[in-house]
Amino acid sequence: MLEPNEKDFGTPKRSAQQQVTLVIDGRQVTVAAGTSVLRAATESGVNIPRLCATDSLEPFGSCRLCLVEIEGRKGYPASCTTPVEQGMQVRTQSPRLQELRRGVMELYLSDHPLDCLTCAANGDCELQEMAGVVGLREVRYGADGANHLHSGKDESNPYFTYDPSKCIVCNRCVRACEEIQGTFALTIAGRGFDARVAAGQEQPFMASECVSCGACVQACPTATLQEKTVIASGQPEHSVVTTCAYCGVGCAFKAEMKGNQVVRMVPYKNGQANEGHSCVKGRFAWGYATHPQRILKPMLRNRITDPWREVSWDEALDHAASEFKRIQQQYGRDSIGGIVSSRCTNEEDYLVQKMVRAAFGNNNVDNCARVCHSPTGYGLKQTLGESAGTQTFKSVEQADVILLVGANPTDAHPVFASRLKKRLRAGAKLIVIDPRQIELVSSPHIKAAFHLQLRPGTNVALLSALAHVIVTQGLLAHEFVAARCEDKSFRQWRDFVALPENSPEAMQDITGVPAAQLRGAARLYATGGNAAIYYGLGVTEHAQGSTAVMAIANLAMATGNIGREGVGVNPLRGQNNVQGACDMGAFPHELPGYRHVSDAATRRAFEQAWGVAIQAEPGLRIPNMFSAALDGSFRGLYCQGEDIAQSDPDLGHVTAALAAMECVVVQDLFLNETAKFAHVFLPGASFLEKDGTFTNAERRISRVRKVMPPLAGYADWEVTMLLSRRLGYAMDYAHPAEIMDEIARLTPAFHGVSYEKLEALGSIQWPCNAAAPDGTPIMHVDRFVRGKGKFILTQYVATDEKVTRKFPLILTTGRILAQYNVGAQTRRTENVQWHGEDVLEIHPHDAEERGIRDGARVSVHSRTGDTVLRAKISARLQPGVVYTTFHFPESRVNAVTTESSDWATNCPEYKVTAVEVCMACGSGFIPTGDGRVEAGPAGAGLSEGRSCPR
Ligand code: SF4
Ligand code: SF4
Ligand code: SF4
Ligand code: FES
Repeated sequence: MLEPNEKDFGTPKRSAQQQVTLVIDGRQVTVAAGTSVLRAATESGVNIPRLCATDSLEPFGSCRLCLVEIEGRKGYPASCTTPVEQGMQVRTQSPRLQELRRGVMELYLSDHPLDCLTCAANGDCELQEMAGVVGLREVRYGADGANHLHSGKDESNPYFTYDPSKCIVCNRCVRACEEIQGTFALTIAGRGFDARVAAGQEQPFMASECVSCGACVQACPTATLQEKTVIASGQPEHSVVTTCAYCGVGCAFKAEMKGNQVVRMVPYKNGQANEGHSCVKGRFAWGYATHPQRILKPMLRNRITDPWREVSWDEALDHAASEFKRIQQQYGRDSIGGIVSSRCTNEEDYLVQKMVRAAFGNNNVDNCARVCHSPTGYGLKQTLGESAGTQTFKSVEQADVILLVGANPTDAHPVFASRLKKRLRAGAKLIVIDPRQIELVSSPHIKAAFHLQLRPGTNVALLSALAHVIVTQGLLAHEFVAARCEDKSFRQWRDFVALPENSPEAMQDITGVPAAQLRGAARLYATGGNAAIYYGLGVTEHAQGSTAVMAIANLAMATGNIGREGVGVNPLRGQNNVQGACDMGAFPHELPGYRHVSDAATRRAFEQAWGVAIQAEPGLRIPNMFSAALDGSFRGLYCQGEDIAQSDPDLGHVTAALAAMECVVVQDLFLNETAKFAHVFLPGASFLEKDGTFTNAERRISRVRKVMPPLAGYADWEVTMLLSRRLGYAMDYAHPAEIMDEIARLTPAFHGVSYEKLEALGSIQWPCNAAAPDGTPIMHVDRFVRGKGKFILTQYVATDEKVTRKFPLILTTGRILAQYNVGAQTRRTENVQWHGEDVLEIHPHDAEERGIRDGARVSVHSRTGDTVLRAKISARLQPGVVYTTFHFPESRVNAVTTESSDWATNCPEYKVTAVEVCMACGSGFIPTGDGRVEAGPAGAGLSEGRSCPR
């Protein structure tokens, strides 16, 4: 179901400067040099039949359906693989061409099941369509000869089927896997008549390297690769364009519907963040939205030990409002606060922070950026003047060198990873800074030029050493720095990083990275052409997270790699709308648009618009709320779409704080871990049930569109209005568009944003205002937002979280492709087939020392707590480092992580926790009670005499 603006032009667009004019069927056509005849014809409105060509893939020329006649050339060239030439005369229709095309179709259909009427692709099959286009009326060869009609199906993938009997061996799937996704999971096995598509080493899809991105399914012109939901439900009848609710890439999708039922999600070709690609989560893992465990009725209870009681919306909201009022009367205005959801829309986030400021009357509002990218906000604001990434994702196509720091895009930002891999395959160089050998270090057709496998917690030391090489080897971009940056801060920084103690040789004992490698990487970054930095939580979630962000910005400024395509400083934001939550003022110290609450003019603007007084002092951050709860001064919390009792560090502390509160209101799709401590549960609405916008990691504001009514009756923005009214502060909006209008009025970077403009442009990257009416794809082009770029000294300070005899290993955490964040959504989909539990990756050496076998249950102990995980022995880690994910509540990974946090923003140091790992008590070794252990009865092989961390 293609919309007019999704027309398939057959082969990709070419962007050469040189224009070529030719004549096709008597029409004069001018296109860029390098364009195929097929595309030139399609652009001019002449449709040539085709099967193996599609404009998302390079032409292949296998089906021979797109044959044309070209004056002066012998034979019938394939128009998809023939580039245009000046003066070329092309004929696309003639009796001979018709005959040839019918012959091709006859051969295809002689080996194709003629079950069109009962086929899942009926009405959406290019083979069927082409049979009609070429006027095929009979198949002379019958279907009695050798054929593939009874080839067995591969049903192993939970989301799509592979039915070889329908395959026309057009190779589109193979090319999609290579060119778009970059996984290289498919091949054409066999030759000639025996040729067929094979996954991996001729394995079932699930056993192969396939990551279930679905690009092959989308590319397949027949029902050979077909979504199981389409097989089950039939073809969709309408579609709505919306935005993925998983990660910060912000892919646009067409939700293809039958009434109010989603039949499939198809990545939107015109989506500016993803250009028609997706990952397994966005394309397939949407079933959670209608999962039977959704809570659709508000619930109440007096004590958290009581059972839940279903109540009306009125009763739940009345109770929540009266409890919040009672608590404030009893303990003061600052005794309650709110947590804004980075999964909700901008409009919803804006309303919750407005409710906290206007109805609660305080600034106790925060969001999950506190535990992920708050150092990005702080570090980039200090150095560049704006708390957000500088580029579009597409900009990576112009990068020559990519410095990837503490990020694992193939798992956490998969669609961006596919773009990145494409660029790397085209010749760009990659430097990976990561304690773990992530997939991009070495994967099909990709090999990082450098993998600086540093010790967790030493980013700042390593980044300073990179800067040392750049400064001392004369690799600075002097002209850029002189024109664009503060002279004084630059000189101070230059002298600081040039100090011998910042040299790679001096730092290698700290970072574990050989000096020669580091020097090579620094030279490559500074001299390899356009150099872009992409970084993730491996930078921010550290005691020096903000310092590392500033070190990254320093590097980009010092080498002049900022302010144009192909360069920049790009945080890979985690949740779908964490950028938006921050933009919308979901911070205790900032109003929308990153303006400090202490700024009187900003406060005055909001006070006038909202008709209330706003506190001039910052409110409580999330960890401060917990501490205040434990000291008795913070008693009530409104927590929307955030599972702090699973995601936040030092869970013992978090849960004790929640248990100490008198009224916890949780609004979510499911009864999550935080709801165990709640007194009021308000059902949330999924992204399919509401209108609004999300802002992705490129600052791109995209529409979220309602495709079904809210299952519990209200969208989240409506619930916030209902609660606020009961608290005595009425907010009346008829549609989220009105909320966006208010945001635009009050926020300079959003002045030009409106739903009308979003409709017209598709999406908008802020700032969008009079100076940039269509938005700002690249920031800091002529000047930095703060005027002159500011270099900041980045003195390395070792984290307090140190390995000891008792806790000799460093635990670091991350994400995995199939699961998402706390897993509330993905755990309720078939994605559990790829990742059904969190495992602890441990180096073979560390495992052997502890008698740990692959797959064994192991105890993980830290100074704050313990948990038990299954061990996975993996050489992707360096000895001394263990790794896990945190997608399952039962893993209780954050029972082990500590309260240690970034000095500037309190972002937790998830990436560094000193731990000991041993065979799980009871299954491997026996604590003797005096802090020692003995080998367990099963002969687990634990080194006898090791100290038990307990
Ligand atoms: S689903 Fe994606 S990874 Fe798997 S075979 Fe298809 S294109 Fe390749
Ligand atoms: S599976 Fe589909 S895309 Fe792949 S070769 Fe067969 S028909 Fe073409
Ligand atoms: S890359 Fe992110 S935004 Fe895109 S489909 Fe996957 S989860 Fe959704
Ligand atoms: S479309 Fe050109 S050969 Fe298949």
